[in-house]
Amino acid sequence: MPTLTVQNLPATVPVPAGSTLLAALQAAAHDWMHACGAKGRCTTCRLIVVSGADALTPLTAAELRYQAAGRLQANERLTCQARLPEGTVTGRVPEATKLPHVQYTK
Ligand code: FES
Repeated sequence: MPTLTVQNLPATVPVPAGSTLLAALQAAAHDWMHACGAKGRCTTCRLIVVSGADALTPLTAAELRYQAAGRLQANERLTCQARLPEGTVTGRVPEATKLPHVQYTK
């Protein structure tokens, strides 16, 4: 099964077929900021992609809109939008979207 590793959570979770990265993280009981409720209307669920970006599904309309507005960097994806059909992705939680009650590593 495809897997997502988040270096500073730290965690490695399976990403079921058709699941968003956010849904996979939540299914594995990891808290992850998602202020708009996974509707593609904020950028708080973003992930800094360290490797494996090519394995992710193409940018959605919401992600393209935020990229154009400068609110989503080229190396970032919205976890509520991106899916991982196969392969592995490694990323990091951005400093700005860390949750206060979660202990992150470096
Ligand atoms: S939770 Fe708001 S865009 Fe993903």
